[in-house]
Amino acid sequence: MNTVARQRLYIQEVSVRDGFQIEPRFVPTEQKIELINALSRTGLAKIEVTSFTSPKAIPALADAEQVMRRIDRVAGVQYAALVPNARGAERALACNVDELNLVISASDTHNLANLRMSQEQSLAQFADIVAMVAGQAQVNVSLSTAFGCPFEGEIADAVVLGMLQRLARIGVQHITLCDTTGMANPVQVERLCREVRSAWPELTLTAHFHDTRSMGLANALAALQAGVERFDASLGGLGGCPFAPGASGNVCTEDLVHMFEAMGYDTGVDLDTLLVLARGLPQIVGHEVPGQVAKAGPWTRRYPVPPRLEGVAGQPRPSGPCGAPLAAATTSQERA
Ligand code: COA
Ligand code: ZN
Repeated sequence: MNTVARQRLYIQEVSVRDGFQIEPRFVPTEQKIELINALSRTGLAKIEVTSFTSPKAIPALADAEQVMRRIDRVAGVQYAALVPNARGAERALACNVDELNLVISASDTHNLANLRMSQEQSLAQFADIVAMVAGQAQVNVSLSTAFGCPFEGEIADAVVLGMLQRLARIGVQHITLCDTTGMANPVQVERLCREVRSAWPELTLTAHFHDTRSMGLANALAALQAGVERFDASLGGLGGCPFAPGASGNVCTEDLVHMFEAMGYDTGVDLDTLLVLARGLPQIVGHEVPGQVAKAGPWTRRYPVPPRLEGVAGQPRPSGPCGAPLAAATTSQERA
């Protein structure tokens, strides 16, 4: 165990944007601010605070300015916001965001459904936005449906690489590959991430997975194996795009941190604090959330040995992998 050196990985929290944008119940502004302030103190590298979209399109984040202006900013944490168009960029800059996360889809159909613009229209706005930002903030582009589109199906790697080429030409140096509706598989993820890294070694590359088909963690591992060090994730596994049919939660932050830390990587994140926040999430959103580790506890959790097994002659003290109670051993003891 822990044969891998403590390489640093960067965890970027999106629950308050990708998560809350799809919640049917409006999360009050004060609760959003309180959660962001608490998340800021867990060691996360970046928090995507909100989105500067049309409040008619995303009513759940209609309080973007209030949230962005009123959070306590912790040194070392980057505060990002999703931006769909030039109007959103102006609003984000007025709130002094550290990063504008522009969004465009690899599939034209999803771009139309999500942004009511063609890819060409989006790209034209991006060129204006990059000029408008002029170094005042970092610009990242999230490429939605990079691994598959719920309308068009498969997205060829060449389509993604072609889009990145065009983004590179307008000066974009930070890219997130998004699996918007959980269509990616680990083989595809490793291949595409390797292709992107080898074509643009200088690019800051983030992987953004949804766990719609239970491949989220496997895909994160595949991206890691391809050299990706930055991961978007969402507390409790909340999340989903309201304009992509069948969308569901992001890969869960505490589960991802738990996996990477168990493997010997350094996420810089305090898992215990994250688990406390994750366990408070159902109260905020009014329903259970998909995250697993908040329910099971981390792998280091131990249970008391059942009293009837202690001191039984000839029987080893029961302990299974990770100290979990041994169901099989218990059964054989009971039979004896
Ligand atoms: N912020 C606030 N309001 C905006 C806006 C922005 N960034 N962009 C447009 N608007 C307003 C316009 O002022 C207009 O308002 P009005 O009806 O009161 O006059 C209205 O929205 C429509 O403007 P229009 O330019 O015609 O936009 P649209 O209706 O074609 O919508 C988007 C385009 C991009 C604004 C909208 O589709 C959107 O916000 N999508 C959100 C996508 C998203 O966040 N998806 C999930 C994450 S991937
Ligand atoms: Zn997403």
